Amino acid sequence: MRHLMSPLDLSVQETDKLLNLANDIEKNPEKYAHACAGKKLATCFYEPSTRTRLSFEAAMLNLGGSVLGFSSADSSSAAKGESVSDTIRVISCYADICAMRHPKEGAPLVASEKSAIPVINAGDGGHQHPTQTLTDLLTIHSLKGHLDNLTIGLCGDLKFGRTVHSLIHALIRYPNVKFVLISPEELRVPSYIREDVLAQNNVPFKEVVRLEDALPELDILYMTRVQKERFFNEEDYIRMKDFYILDKAKMELAPKDMLVLHPLPRVNEISTEVDDDPRAVYFKQVQYGVYVRMALILTLLGMEV
Ligand code: CP
Repeated sequence: MRHLMSPLDLSVQETDKLLNLANDIEKNPEKYAHACAGKKLATCFYEPSTRTRLSFEAAMLNLGGSVLGFSSADSSSAAKGESVSDTIRVISCYADICAMRHPKEGAPLVASEKSAIPVINAGDGGHQHPTQTLTDLLTIHSLKGHLDNLTIGLCGDLKFGRTVHSLIHALIRYPNVKFVLISPEELRVPSYIREDVLAQNNVPFKEVVRLEDALPELDILYMTRVQKERFFNEEDYIRMKDFYILDKAKMELAPKDMLVLHPLPRVNEISTEVDDDPRAVYFKQVQYGVYVRMALILTLLGMEV
């Protein structure tokens, strides 16, 4: 039995295989329509979500399976003090696979240690969000044709943005990938990622504050929102929240084939006027999230199609 806690739980070869499966699902959805008949997915979400929870549910329904779960800690027995270890033992009696989101870093890992079914980390605090990373990799691979030889700009809240942390971990495994880390001083990528992940692996990166300075050299611009829920005081959040706003004027500075990704939800960091730009692919990215989660469910359940 396998769980998915981090993008590194899949080797590069396994990741590539999963992306190929997702591409096949996109092209031949009918082939997979009954692949998980009789199987159940539990979504245990202790923190709010639109995309991750609903795309997992859509993925399992598209595979002919069923879904059950809860969408907030308050509507589960966590509100009465039940631990994630006990909850997953219970869920293991009801479902075949579980996607879990939790505000505490490491909670899905703790659950996986007591689980009788595969557990997928659907986002744990400011730590990791591996299925968003698989979504991002599928989007880039499908629209650019490759994951190597890319200059990727990561912009916004690089301190608390778990999607950024997971994406860096995954992309450093591909040759000739460079990062431009675009953030205010207070929201820099944590030092353990700069030093233990990027520097340690000799991955070229630079840090800049102005988005305008980075745009001309990027193949991918990955925008992120400032993570309000992880700030200790509201004043700091208000000061930071509109630090970056990507608009039409800034898009003029970017290469004609640069892609703009965003894990969403968007707040103010991308002006809606950018949505019609063919380089803005964040809503396509949402669709890729369903295909890749279908591929992941099939893989972790060991279903051959
Ligand atoms: N990208 C993402 O995790 O979105 P949700 O918080 O809506 O799941």
